[in-house]
Amino acid sequence: MFGRVKSLDAILATAEKKSLHRSLGPVQLTLLGVGAIIGTGIFVLTAAAAQKAGPGMMWSFVIAGFVCAVAALCYSELASMVPVSGSAYTYSYAVVGELLAWMVGWALILEYAVAASAVSVGWSGYFMGLLKSLTGFELPAALSAGPIWSLSGVDFSAGIINVPAIVVALAVTLLLMIGTKESATFNAVLVAIKVAALTMFVVLTLPAMQGQHFAPFTPNGWFGPAGTSGLGVVGAAASIFFAYVGFDAVSTAAEETKNPQRNVPIGLIGSLGICTVFYLLVAAGAIGADGAQPTALGVQPGSPEFTAQCAALAQKGEVPLVCSNEALAHVLRSINYTWAGDLIGLAANLALPSVILMMLYGQTRIFFVMARDGLLPEKLATVHPKWKTPHIVTLITGVFVAIAAALLPVGQLADISNSGTLFAFFMVSLAVLILRVRDPGRHRPFRTPLIWVVAPISVLGCLLLYFNLPTEAMLVLPVWGAIGLVFYFGYGYRKSHVGLGRFEVHEEDVDAPPQPVPPMPGGAELD
Ligand code: ALA
Repeated sequence: MFGRVKSLDAILATAEKKSLHRSLGPVQLTLLGVGAIIGTGIFVLTAAAAQKAGPGMMWSFVIAGFVCAVAALCYSELASMVPVSGSAYTYSYAVVGELLAWMVGWALILEYAVAASAVSVGWSGYFMGLLKSLTGFELPAALSAGPIWSLSGVDFSAGIINVPAIVVALAVTLLLMIGTKESATFNAVLVAIKVAALTMFVVLTLPAMQGQHFAPFTPNGWFGPAGTSGLGVVGAAASIFFAYVGFDAVSTAAEETKNPQRNVPIGLIGSLGICTVFYLLVAAGAIGADGAQPTALGVQPGSPEFTAQCAALAQKGEVPLVCSNEALAHVLRSINYTWAGDLIGLAANLALPSVILMMLYGQTRIFFVMARDGLLPEKLATVHPKWKTPHIVTLITGVFVAIAAALLPVGQLADISNSGTLFAFFMVSLAVLILRVRDPGRHRPFRTPLIWVVAPISVLGCLLLYFNLPTEAMLVLPVWGAIGLVFYFGYGYRKSHVGLGRFEVHEEDVDAPPQPVPPMPGGAELD
Protein backbone atom coordinates (compact mmCIF):
# COMPACT_ATOMS: atom_id res chain seq x y z
CA MET A 1 0.00 0.00 0.00
CA PHE A 2 2.89 2.30 0.72
CA GLY A 3 4.45 1.18 -2.56
CA ARG A 4 1.31 2.08 -4.45
CA VAL A 5 2.44 5.47 -5.52
CA LYS A 6 0.75 7.35 -8.30
CA SER A 7 3.58 8.57 -10.47
CA LEU A 8 3.99 12.31 -10.59
CA ASP A 9 4.38 12.09 -14.34
CA ALA A 10 1.01 10.37 -14.60
CA ILE A 11 -0.60 13.09 -12.52
CA LEU A 12 1.01 15.80 -14.57
CA ALA A 13 -0.05 14.11 -17.80
CA THR A 14 -3.59 14.22 -16.45
CA ALA A 15 -3.27 17.90 -15.74
CA GLU A 16 -1.84 18.68 -19.14
CA LYS A 17 -4.56 16.80 -20.98
CA LYS A 18 -7.27 18.56 -19.10
CA SER A 19 -9.26 21.03 -21.00
CA LEU A 20 -10.24 23.23 -18.09
CA HIS A 21 -10.03 26.80 -19.14
CA ARG A 22 -7.21 28.57 -17.35
CA SER A 23 -8.75 31.87 -16.42
CA LEU A 24 -7.75 32.80 -12.87
CA GLY A 25 -5.01 35.35 -12.23
CA PRO A 26 -3.22 36.29 -8.99
CA VAL A 27 -5.85 38.80 -7.85
CA GLN A 28 -8.76 36.44 -8.39
CA LEU A 29 -6.89 33.65 -6.65
CA THR A 30 -6.16 35.84 -3.66
CA LEU A 31 -9.82 36.87 -3.57
CA LEU A 32 -10.80 33.21 -3.81
CA GLY A 33 -8.61 32.52 -0.80
CA VAL A 34 -9.99 35.43 1.22
CA GLY A 35 -13.51 34.33 0.24
CA ALA A 36 -12.91 30.85 1.62
CA ILE A 37 -11.01 31.99 4.70
CA ILE A 38 -13.05 34.75 6.33
CA GLY A 39 -16.07 33.16 7.94
CA THR A 40 -17.30 31.64 11.16
CA GLY A 41 -13.81 31.68 12.64
CA ILE A 42 -13.54 35.43 13.03
CA PHE A 43 -17.27 36.22 13.13
CA VAL A 44 -18.18 33.64 15.79
CA LEU A 45 -15.23 31.78 17.31
CA THR A 46 -13.61 34.96 18.55
CA ALA A 47 -15.90 34.50 21.57
CA ALA A 48 -14.66 30.94 22.21
CA ALA A 49 -11.05 32.06 21.79
CA ALA A 50 -11.65 34.78 24.39
CA GLN A 51 -13.09 32.25 26.83
CA LYS A 52 -9.99 30.09 26.37
CA ALA A 53 -7.28 32.72 26.36
CA GLY A 54 -8.73 36.09 27.36
CA PRO A 55 -7.05 39.06 25.63
CA GLY A 56 -4.09 36.72 25.02
CA MET A 57 -6.11 35.43 22.06
CA MET A 58 -4.19 38.03 20.08
CA TRP A 59 -1.20 35.72 20.44
CA SER A 60 -3.45 32.82 19.46
CA PHE A 61 -4.26 34.52 16.17
CA VAL A 62 -0.54 35.07 15.57
CA ILE A 63 0.40 31.46 16.40
CA ALA A 64 -2.38 29.93 14.28
CA GLY A 65 -1.61 32.30 11.41
CA PHE A 66 2.09 31.47 11.64
CA VAL A 67 1.47 27.71 11.48
CA CYS A 68 -0.79 28.26 8.47
CA ALA A 69 1.83 30.44 6.79
CA VAL A 70 4.59 27.83 7.05
CA ALA A 71 2.14 25.13 5.94
CA ALA A 72 1.10 27.36 3.04
CA LEU A 73 4.74 27.66 1.94
CA CYS A 74 4.91 23.85 1.83
CA TYR A 75 1.57 23.67 0.02
CA SER A 76 2.84 26.17 -2.51
CA GLU A 77 5.79 24.04 -3.57
CA LEU A 78 3.60 20.99 -4.14
CA ALA A 79 0.76 22.96 -5.67
CA SER A 80 3.13 24.58 -8.14
CA MET A 81 4.67 21.22 -9.09
CA VAL A 82 1.38 19.35 -9.23
CA PRO A 83 -1.24 21.90 -10.19
CA VAL A 84 -4.18 19.50 -10.19
CA SER A 85 -7.36 18.90 -8.21
CA GLY A 86 -7.46 17.00 -4.99
CA SER A 87 -5.00 19.08 -3.01
CA ALA A 88 -3.25 17.29 -0.15
CA TYR A 89 -4.79 13.97 -1.18
CA THR A 90 -3.21 14.08 -4.63
CA TYR A 91 0.19 15.22 -3.35
CA SER A 92 0.23 12.42 -0.81
CA TYR A 93 -0.68 9.86 -3.45
CA ALA A 94 2.37 10.86 -5.44
CA VAL A 95 4.75 10.96 -2.52
CA VAL A 96 3.82 8.70 0.36
CA GLY A 97 1.61 6.19 -1.38
CA GLU A 98 -1.99 5.12 -1.52
CA LEU A 99 -2.66 4.15 2.08
CA LEU A 100 -1.53 7.45 3.51
CA ALA A 101 -3.17 9.33 0.62
CA TRP A 102 -6.41 7.61 1.51
CA MET A 103 -5.96 8.62 5.13
CA VAL A 104 -5.32 12.22 4.07
CA GLY A 105 -8.38 12.20 1.81
CA TRP A 106 -10.36 10.71 4.67
CA ALA A 107 -9.09 13.44 7.01
CA LEU A 108 -10.00 16.07 4.43
CA ILE A 109 -13.61 14.99 4.92
CA LEU A 110 -13.24 16.27 8.45
CA GLU A 111 -11.68 19.45 7.15
CA TYR A 112 -14.22 20.28 4.48
CA ALA A 113 -17.50 18.61 5.44
CA VAL A 114 -17.26 19.30 9.16
CA ALA A 115 -16.14 22.85 8.44
CA ALA A 116 -19.27 23.26 6.32
CA SER A 117 -21.29 22.14 9.36
CA ALA A 118 -19.43 24.55 11.63
CA VAL A 119 -20.04 27.48 9.31
CA SER A 120 -23.73 26.52 9.07
CA VAL A 121 -24.00 26.70 12.86
CA GLY A 122 -22.14 30.01 12.84
CA TRP A 123 -24.60 31.34 10.30
CA SER A 124 -27.46 30.18 12.48
CA GLY A 125 -26.16 32.23 15.43
CA TYR A 126 -25.95 35.39 13.33
CA PHE A 127 -29.31 34.74 11.71
CA MET A 128 -31.05 34.36 15.06
CA GLY A 129 -29.27 37.42 16.41
CA LEU A 130 -30.27 39.59 13.46
CA LEU A 131 -33.84 38.31 13.56
CA LYS A 132 -34.10 39.14 17.24
CA SER A 133 -32.56 42.56 16.83
CA LEU A 134 -34.82 43.51 13.93
CA THR A 135 -38.14 41.85 14.88
CA GLY A 136 -37.80 40.76 18.49
CA PHE A 137 -38.57 37.18 17.44
CA GLU A 138 -36.61 34.41 19.15
CA LEU A 139 -36.67 30.72 18.36
CA PRO A 140 -36.60 28.61 21.56
CA ALA A 141 -33.05 27.51 22.44
CA ALA A 142 -34.14 23.89 22.03
CA LEU A 143 -34.62 24.54 18.30
CA SER A 144 -31.70 26.87 17.63
CA ALA A 145 -28.75 25.01 19.15
CA GLY A 146 -27.50 21.45 19.29
CA PRO A 147 -26.63 19.50 22.46
CA ILE A 148 -23.16 19.43 24.00
CA TRP A 149 -21.13 16.24 23.64
CA SER A 150 -18.42 15.19 26.04
CA LEU A 151 -16.77 12.02 27.25
CA SER A 152 -19.23 12.00 30.14
CA GLY A 153 -22.32 12.09 27.91
CA VAL A 154 -24.68 14.35 26.00
CA ASP A 155 -26.03 17.47 27.64
CA PHE A 156 -29.21 19.06 26.34
CA SER A 157 -29.10 22.21 28.46
CA ALA A 158 -27.98 24.40 25.55
CA GLY A 159 -30.39 23.01 22.96
CA ILE A 160 -31.62 19.93 21.12
CA ILE A 161 -31.53 20.65 17.41
CA ASN A 162 -30.31 23.60 15.36
CA VAL A 163 -33.05 24.14 12.81
CA PRO A 164 -31.64 27.26 11.04
CA ALA A 165 -28.31 25.44 10.56
CA ILE A 166 -30.11 22.51 8.91
CA VAL A 167 -31.98 24.88 6.62
CA VAL A 168 -28.88 26.74 5.42
CA ALA A 169 -26.83 23.55 4.96
CA LEU A 170 -29.56 21.92 2.87
CA ALA A 171 -30.22 25.10 0.89
CA VAL A 172 -26.56 25.35 -0.09
CA THR A 173 -26.54 21.63 -0.95
CA LEU A 174 -29.48 22.18 -3.26
CA LEU A 175 -27.74 25.08 -4.97
CA LEU A 176 -24.66 22.94 -5.53
CA MET A 177 -26.75 20.07 -6.85
CA ILE A 178 -28.39 22.18 -9.50
CA GLY A 179 -25.03 23.42 -10.59
CA THR A 180 -24.39 26.69 -8.80
CA LYS A 181 -20.74 27.56 -8.87
CA GLU A 182 -19.53 30.75 -7.47
CA SER A 183 -18.31 32.95 -10.24
CA ALA A 184 -15.16 34.91 -9.59
CA THR A 185 -17.20 38.12 -9.77
CA PHE A 186 -19.78 36.97 -7.25
CA ASN A 187 -16.99 35.86 -4.94
CA ALA A 188 -15.34 39.26 -5.29
CA VAL A 189 -18.60 40.96 -4.26
CA LEU A 190 -18.91 38.77 -1.16
CA VAL A 191 -15.27 39.35 -0.27
CA ALA A 192 -15.91 43.08 -0.56
CA ILE A 193 -18.89 42.75 1.81
CA LYS A 194 -16.84 40.82 4.38
CA VAL A 195 -13.87 43.14 4.15
CA ALA A 196 -16.14 46.20 4.40
CA ALA A 197 -17.87 44.70 7.47
CA LEU A 198 -14.56 43.94 9.21
CA THR A 199 -13.18 47.37 8.30
CA MET A 200 -16.27 49.02 9.76
CA PHE A 201 -15.80 46.93 12.89
CA VAL A 202 -12.20 48.04 13.28
CA VAL A 203 -12.96 51.70 12.58
CA LEU A 204 -15.78 51.77 15.16
CA THR A 205 -14.10 49.74 17.88
CA LEU A 206 -10.56 51.06 17.89
CA PRO A 207 -11.56 54.52 19.21
CA ALA A 208 -13.61 52.79 21.93
CA MET A 209 -10.63 50.79 23.21
CA GLN A 210 -9.97 50.82 26.92
CA GLY A 211 -6.54 49.83 28.16
CA GLN A 212 -7.87 48.08 31.27
CA HIS A 213 -9.70 45.54 29.09
CA PHE A 214 -6.33 44.03 28.26
CA ALA A 215 -5.53 43.06 31.85
CA PRO A 216 -5.02 40.34 32.86
CA PHE A 217 -3.70 39.52 29.44
CA THR A 218 -3.42 35.74 29.72
CA PRO A 219 -5.84 34.74 32.49
CA ASN A 220 -5.64 31.04 31.59
CA GLY A 221 -1.90 31.11 30.95
CA TRP A 222 -0.33 29.67 27.81
CA PHE A 223 -1.49 26.08 28.23
CA GLY A 224 -4.50 26.44 30.56
CA PRO A 225 -4.76 25.48 34.23
CA ALA A 226 -3.47 22.03 35.19
CA GLY A 227 -5.94 19.24 34.50
CA THR A 228 -7.69 21.04 31.65
CA SER A 229 -7.31 20.44 27.93
CA GLY A 230 -7.47 22.89 25.07
CA LEU A 231 -7.31 26.08 27.15
CA GLY A 232 -4.88 28.96 27.38
CA VAL A 233 -3.26 30.88 24.54
CA VAL A 234 -2.11 27.76 22.69
CA GLY A 235 -5.46 26.00 23.18
CA ALA A 236 -7.20 29.05 21.73
CA ALA A 237 -4.73 29.00 18.83
CA ALA A 238 -5.71 25.38 18.14
CA SER A 239 -9.37 26.43 17.91
CA ILE A 240 -8.94 29.74 16.13
CA PHE A 241 -6.84 27.91 13.55
CA PHE A 242 -10.28 27.32 12.04
CA ALA A 243 -10.43 30.99 11.10
CA TYR A 244 -7.57 30.46 8.63
CA VAL A 245 -8.74 27.19 7.14
CA GLY A 246 -9.77 27.50 3.52
CA PHE A 247 -6.62 29.00 2.05
CA ASP A 248 -5.90 25.59 0.58
CA ALA A 249 -8.97 26.15 -1.62
CA VAL A 250 -6.54 28.20 -3.69
CA SER A 251 -4.46 25.12 -4.41
CA THR A 252 -7.54 23.18 -5.50
CA ALA A 253 -8.12 25.82 -8.17
CA ALA A 254 -4.64 25.29 -9.60
CA GLU A 255 -6.02 23.63 -12.71
CA GLU A 256 -7.99 26.72 -13.59
CA THR A 257 -5.16 29.15 -12.98
CA LYS A 258 -3.05 31.00 -15.50
CA ASN A 259 0.63 30.44 -14.80
CA PRO A 260 -0.16 28.41 -11.67
CA GLN A 261 3.49 28.07 -10.77
CA ARG A 262 3.67 31.75 -9.99
CA ASN A 263 0.10 32.59 -9.12
CA VAL A 264 -0.83 29.78 -6.73
CA PRO A 265 1.86 30.70 -4.19
CA ILE A 266 0.85 34.36 -4.52
CA GLY A 267 -2.79 33.44 -3.90
CA LEU A 268 -1.99 31.23 -0.91
CA ILE A 269 0.38 33.56 0.87
CA GLY A 270 -1.45 36.73 -0.19
CA SER A 271 -4.85 35.65 1.10
CA LEU A 272 -3.37 34.40 4.37
CA GLY A 273 -1.46 37.63 4.88
CA ILE A 274 -4.49 39.84 4.28
CA CYS A 275 -6.64 37.79 6.65
CA THR A 276 -4.00 37.75 9.38
CA VAL A 277 -3.82 41.54 9.41
CA PHE A 278 -7.60 41.84 9.57
CA TYR A 279 -7.91 39.23 12.30
CA LEU A 280 -5.38 40.94 14.53
CA LEU A 281 -7.08 44.30 14.15
CA VAL A 282 -10.52 42.79 14.76
CA ALA A 283 -9.31 40.88 17.82
CA ALA A 284 -7.73 44.02 19.24
CA GLY A 285 -10.92 45.99 18.60
CA ALA A 286 -13.14 43.34 20.21
CA ILE A 287 -10.96 43.03 23.31
CA GLY A 288 -10.39 46.75 23.68
CA ALA A 289 -14.00 47.80 23.21
CA ASP A 290 -15.86 45.03 25.00
CA GLY A 291 -13.39 43.12 27.18
CA ALA A 292 -12.61 39.46 26.66
CA GLN A 293 -12.24 37.87 30.08
CA PRO A 294 -13.48 34.28 30.57
CA THR A 295 -16.63 33.68 32.66
CA ALA A 296 -14.43 31.71 35.02
CA LEU A 297 -10.90 30.37 34.76
CA GLY A 298 -10.41 26.87 33.42
CA VAL A 299 -13.91 26.60 31.95
CA GLN A 300 -14.16 25.27 28.39
CA PRO A 301 -16.40 27.31 26.06
CA GLY A 302 -19.46 25.34 25.06
CA SER A 303 -19.27 23.05 28.10
CA PRO A 304 -22.37 22.49 30.27
CA GLU A 305 -20.65 24.43 33.08
CA PHE A 306 -20.01 27.33 30.73
CA THR A 307 -23.60 27.30 29.45
CA ALA A 308 -24.85 27.46 33.05
CA GLN A 309 -22.54 30.38 33.84
CA CYS A 310 -23.70 32.28 30.78
CA ALA A 311 -27.36 31.60 31.63
CA ALA A 312 -26.81 32.90 35.18
CA LEU A 313 -25.13 36.05 33.85
CA ALA A 314 -27.93 36.58 31.33
CA GLN A 315 -30.46 36.47 34.17
CA LYS A 316 -28.61 39.37 35.72
CA GLY A 317 -28.80 41.18 32.38
CA GLU A 318 -25.11 40.71 31.65
CA VAL A 319 -23.98 39.15 28.39
CA PRO A 320 -20.20 39.12 28.12
CA LEU A 321 -18.51 38.70 24.75
CA VAL A 322 -17.49 35.14 25.57
CA CYS A 323 -21.16 34.08 25.87
CA SER A 324 -22.25 35.56 22.55
CA ASN A 325 -23.15 33.51 19.47
CA GLU A 326 -22.53 36.52 17.27
CA ALA A 327 -19.34 37.89 18.71
CA LEU A 328 -18.65 40.82 16.42
CA ALA A 329 -22.25 42.05 16.31
CA HIS A 330 -22.31 41.79 20.09
CA VAL A 331 -19.23 43.97 20.48
CA LEU A 332 -20.72 46.70 18.30
CA ARG A 333 -24.04 46.61 20.13
CA SER A 334 -22.20 46.77 23.46
CA ILE A 335 -20.69 50.11 22.46
CA ASN A 336 -24.10 51.36 21.34
CA TYR A 337 -23.70 50.91 17.62
CA THR A 338 -26.83 48.82 17.27
CA TRP A 339 -27.17 49.69 13.58
CA ALA A 340 -23.60 48.62 12.95
CA GLY A 341 -24.22 45.38 14.88
CA ASP A 342 -27.17 44.70 12.59
CA LEU A 343 -25.10 45.56 9.53
CA ILE A 344 -22.32 43.19 10.49
CA GLY A 345 -24.99 40.56 11.19
CA LEU A 346 -26.36 41.15 7.71
CA ALA A 347 -22.89 40.84 6.20
CA ALA A 348 -22.34 37.53 8.01
CA ASN A 349 -25.76 36.29 6.90
CA LEU A 350 -24.97 37.13 3.29
CA ALA A 351 -21.38 35.95 3.20
CA LEU A 352 -21.24 32.81 5.34
CA PRO A 353 -23.35 30.68 2.96
CA SER A 354 -20.65 31.18 0.33
CA VAL A 355 -18.07 29.75 2.75
CA ILE A 356 -20.38 26.75 3.24
CA LEU A 357 -20.65 26.47 -0.53
CA MET A 358 -16.87 26.50 -0.97
CA MET A 359 -16.34 23.89 1.72
CA LEU A 360 -19.04 21.59 0.31
CA TYR A 361 -17.76 22.10 -3.20
CA GLY A 362 -14.22 21.30 -2.09
CA GLN A 363 -15.53 18.16 -0.43
CA THR A 364 -17.38 16.90 -3.48
CA ARG A 365 -14.31 17.63 -5.61
CA ILE A 366 -12.10 15.54 -3.33
CA PHE A 367 -14.65 12.71 -3.31
CA PHE A 368 -14.71 13.01 -7.06
CA VAL A 369 -10.96 12.63 -7.43
CA MET A 370 -10.94 9.73 -4.97
CA ALA A 371 -13.71 8.01 -6.93
CA ARG A 372 -11.78 8.70 -10.15
CA ASP A 373 -8.86 6.83 -8.57
CA GLY A 374 -11.14 3.92 -7.70
CA LEU A 375 -10.85 4.39 -3.94
CA LEU A 376 -14.53 5.22 -3.64
CA PRO A 377 -17.37 3.71 -5.69
CA GLU A 378 -17.51 5.45 -9.05
CA LYS A 379 -21.30 5.48 -8.79
CA LEU A 380 -20.90 8.13 -6.13
CA ALA A 381 -19.50 10.45 -8.74
CA THR A 382 -22.35 9.92 -11.19
CA VAL A 383 -23.10 13.15 -12.94
CA HIS A 384 -26.65 14.39 -13.36
CA PRO A 385 -27.52 14.53 -17.08
CA LYS A 386 -29.09 17.96 -16.92
CA TRP A 387 -27.42 19.69 -13.99
CA LYS A 388 -23.97 18.32 -14.91
CA THR A 389 -23.07 17.99 -11.25
CA PRO A 390 -22.12 14.98 -9.11
CA HIS A 391 -25.54 15.21 -7.51
CA ILE A 392 -25.47 11.94 -5.58
CA VAL A 393 -22.28 12.61 -3.69
CA THR A 394 -23.35 16.22 -3.15
CA LEU A 395 -26.68 15.17 -1.67
CA ILE A 396 -25.13 12.53 0.61
CA THR A 397 -22.48 14.98 1.78
CA GLY A 398 -25.06 17.73 2.32
CA VAL A 399 -27.32 15.49 4.41
CA PHE A 400 -24.41 14.50 6.66
CA VAL A 401 -23.30 18.12 6.93
CA ALA A 402 -26.84 19.13 7.94
CA ILE A 403 -27.07 16.35 10.55
CA ALA A 404 -23.75 17.36 12.12
CA ALA A 405 -24.79 21.02 12.05
CA ALA A 406 -28.09 20.14 13.72
CA LEU A 407 -26.58 18.22 16.57
CA LEU A 408 -23.24 19.79 17.49
CA PRO A 409 -22.16 23.20 18.75
CA VAL A 410 -20.02 25.37 16.53
CA GLY A 411 -16.89 25.23 18.71
CA GLN A 412 -16.83 21.44 18.79
CA LEU A 413 -17.38 21.22 15.05
CA ALA A 414 -14.56 23.67 14.40
CA ASP A 415 -12.21 21.73 16.69
CA ILE A 416 -13.06 18.45 14.95
CA SER A 417 -12.51 20.06 11.58
CA ASN A 418 -9.17 21.38 12.80
CA SER A 419 -8.01 17.91 13.81
CA GLY A 420 -8.47 16.69 10.23
CA THR A 421 -6.95 19.79 8.69
CA LEU A 422 -3.90 19.63 10.94
CA PHE A 423 -3.34 16.04 9.87
CA ALA A 424 -3.52 17.04 6.19
CA PHE A 425 -1.12 19.98 6.72
CA PHE A 426 1.22 17.71 8.65
CA MET A 427 1.31 15.22 5.77
CA VAL A 428 1.85 17.93 3.18
CA SER A 429 4.77 19.33 5.16
CA LEU A 430 6.33 15.86 5.35
CA ALA A 431 5.60 15.12 1.71
CA VAL A 432 7.41 18.21 0.50
CA LEU A 433 10.53 17.16 2.41
CA ILE A 434 10.36 13.55 1.23
CA LEU A 435 10.06 14.69 -2.36
CA ARG A 436 13.10 16.97 -2.04
CA VAL A 437 15.13 13.94 -0.98
CA ARG A 438 13.62 11.42 -3.35
CA ASP A 439 13.33 13.53 -6.47
CA PRO A 440 15.69 16.47 -6.07
CA GLY A 441 16.12 17.07 -9.81
CA ARG A 442 12.45 17.64 -10.65
CA HIS A 443 11.50 21.11 -11.79
CA ARG A 444 10.09 23.12 -8.91
CA PRO A 445 8.54 26.34 -10.16
CA PHE A 446 8.11 27.50 -6.57
CA ARG A 447 10.66 26.38 -4.03
CA THR A 448 9.77 26.71 -0.37
CA PRO A 449 12.47 28.99 1.03
CA LEU A 450 14.63 27.47 3.79
CA ILE A 451 12.71 24.24 3.45
CA TRP A 452 14.72 22.37 6.09
CA VAL A 453 13.63 24.99 8.59
CA VAL A 454 10.15 25.84 7.31
CA ALA A 455 8.78 22.31 6.80
CA PRO A 456 9.94 20.96 10.19
CA ILE A 457 8.46 24.06 11.87
CA SER A 458 5.21 23.36 10.05
CA VAL A 459 5.27 19.71 11.16
CA LEU A 460 5.93 20.72 14.77
CA GLY A 461 3.38 23.54 14.62
CA CYS A 462 0.67 21.13 13.45
CA LEU A 463 1.57 18.73 16.25
CA LEU A 464 1.56 21.53 18.83
CA LEU A 465 -1.88 22.72 17.79
CA TYR A 466 -3.29 19.21 17.49
CA PHE A 467 -2.17 18.27 20.99
CA ASN A 468 -3.73 21.43 22.37
CA LEU A 469 -7.19 20.72 21.03
CA PRO A 470 -9.78 19.68 23.62
CA THR A 471 -9.49 15.94 24.35
CA GLU A 472 -12.77 15.06 22.60
CA ALA A 473 -11.70 16.70 19.33
CA MET A 474 -8.26 15.13 19.58
CA LEU A 475 -9.82 11.68 19.93
CA VAL A 476 -12.00 12.11 16.86
CA LEU A 477 -9.04 11.88 14.46
CA PRO A 478 -7.81 8.38 15.46
CA VAL A 479 -11.37 7.06 15.67
CA TRP A 480 -12.20 8.55 12.29
CA GLY A 481 -8.91 7.19 10.95
CA ALA A 482 -9.75 3.68 12.18
CA ILE A 483 -13.12 3.84 10.40
CA GLY A 484 -11.24 5.01 7.31
CA LEU A 485 -8.93 1.99 7.47
CA VAL A 486 -11.91 -0.34 7.57
CA PHE A 487 -13.30 1.32 4.45
CA TYR A 488 -9.93 1.22 2.71
CA PHE A 489 -9.31 -2.45 3.31
CA GLY A 490 -12.95 -3.29 2.64
CA TYR A 491 -13.09 -1.42 -0.65
CA GLY A 492 -10.35 0.88 -1.92
CA TYR A 493 -7.50 -1.59 -1.51
CA ARG A 494 -9.16 -3.99 -3.93
CA LYS A 495 -10.62 -1.46 -6.35
CA SER A 496 -7.81 1.08 -6.56
CA HIS A 497 -6.93 1.85 -10.16
CA VAL A 498 -3.27 2.15 -9.31
CA GLY A 499 -3.48 -1.20 -7.53
CA LEU A 500 -5.15 -2.69 -10.60
CA GLY A 501 -2.35 -1.38 -12.73
CA ARG A 502 -4.25 1.23 -14.66
CA PHE A 503 -2.56 4.31 -15.92
CA GLU A 504 -5.02 7.10 -16.35
CA VAL A 505 -5.13 10.30 -18.21
CA HIS A 506 -8.34 12.16 -17.63
CA GLU A 507 -9.42 14.66 -20.14
CA GLU A 508 -12.68 15.51 -18.56
CA ASP A 509 -13.48 18.23 -16.12
CA VAL A 510 -13.94 16.99 -12.57
CA ASP A 511 -17.60 17.75 -12.95
CA ALA A 512 -17.91 15.15 -15.70
CA PRO A 513 -18.34 11.43 -14.99
CA PRO A 514 -15.22 9.30 -14.69
CA GLN A 515 -14.57 7.46 -17.93
CA PRO A 516 -13.95 3.71 -18.01
CA VAL A 517 -10.22 3.26 -18.21
CA PRO A 518 -8.40 0.69 -20.30
CA PRO A 519 -5.65 -1.27 -18.59
CA MET A 520 -2.20 -0.06 -19.45
CA PRO A 521 -0.20 -2.49 -21.55
CA GLY A 522 2.58 -3.84 -19.43
CA GLY A 523 0.72 -3.49 -16.13
CA ALA A 524 1.16 -1.21 -13.21
CA GLU A 525 2.52 2.26 -13.50
CA LEU A 526 4.38 2.47 -10.26
CA ASP A 527 7.18 4.74 -9.32
N1 ALA B 1 -11.97 29.81 7.75
C1 ALA B 1 -13.34 29.53 7.51
C2 ALA B 1 -14.20 30.14 8.55
O1 ALA B 1 -13.70 30.72 9.47
C3 ALA B 1 -13.58 28.07 7.41
O2 ALA B 1 -15.39 30.06 8.46
